[in-house]
Amino acid sequence: MSTVSAVEADSLIAELVATPEGRADPYPRYAALREIAPVHRSGFGFWALTRYEDCQQLLRHQGVGKDFSGAASSLGLSPEQQAAQDRFRNDHSNMLTSDPPDHTRLRGLASRAFTPRTLETLRSRIVALVDELLDGFGEGEVEVMDALAFPLPVTVIGEMLGVPAEDRPGLRPLVRAVTAVLELAITPEALAEATAADISLGEYFGALVKERRSHPRDDLLTKLIEAEDQGDQLTEGELISTAILLFAAGFETTTHLIGNGLLALLRHPDQLARLRADRTLVRGAVEELLRFDSPV
Ligand code: HEM
Repeated sequence: MSTVSAVEADSLIAELVATPEGRADPYPRYAALREIAPVHRSGFGFWALTRYEDCQQLLRHQGVGKDFSGAASSLGLSPEQQAAQDRFRNDHSNMLTSDPPDHTRLRGLASRAFTPRTLETLRSRIVALVDELLDGFGEGEVEVMDALAFPLPVTVIGEMLGVPAEDRPGLRPLVRAVTAVLELAITPEALAEATAADISLGEYFGALVKERRSHPRDDLLTKLIEAEDQGDQLTEGELISTAILLFAAGFETTTHLIGNGLLALLRHPDQLARLRADRTLVRGAVEELLRFDSPV
């Protein structure tokens, strides 16, 4: 690649991760990156891959792990902010930010509680919940994010984990704030909010774990507390971190899949018509909507 393309590629990446325009409309920039530098070692210290097949291969490669150290140091964070962000990203108490052997152990324990059978028993409850939410739509315009995209997944994961219904809406902004640390570039304000939100979530789930220890129920949190693998159990810190991860991952993503997916279908009425005419296409359509406009 020429020096000019490398500089151009870096400037596209900076736009993508650190400007409101790039964040609001990433796709033309992804297309330009694919054109000039599909596999690019950026001047920011990380590699950027923009082709689907390359990402598929890399993400599934055993030799690839999660090392965020210094990833965004050139993107305008002070050393203190960088350190605060690294603390989140190098947290080895949950699966999302750890590699084997930590990851293997955490996943092994979590999967004792989170089995396909548990999920299958949820199916009828989810169908009833969707019907209930759709019945509430009424006449005229509806704000789909509030009427369906958020309440559906948060109710499902909330009921599974055992987070009381009345607490769920209040946790939404905290989860929002804390997921900002997944971004490559984060403003000092957002980082401060994320740190405060992380503390509040930790306190909330810490109290919930404590309560559930003394009053076990038929829920995922109780199963996580009880999960054991060859004498090994999740520590208190790991339990809290895993509960937060499951709760947050359980709705942020799905909420955006419903929102982005519906918008994509409304913008492509021919595809919507195909889907309505042939429900066997639904499974493939969900996969394609995940690829077409990523919820995360
Ligand atoms: C549209 C829906 C979803 C999308 C797009 C999505 C996306 C992702 C992505 C990109 C990762 C990171 C994978 C990696 O680092 O290798 C991840 C991990 C994870 N997600 Fe989701 N997710 C979705 C729904 C859910 C739901 C509903 C739950 C829980 C109820 C969940 C729980 C998790 C957990 C526990 C991890 C960490 C797994 C591990 O490291 O082994 N996700 N998800």
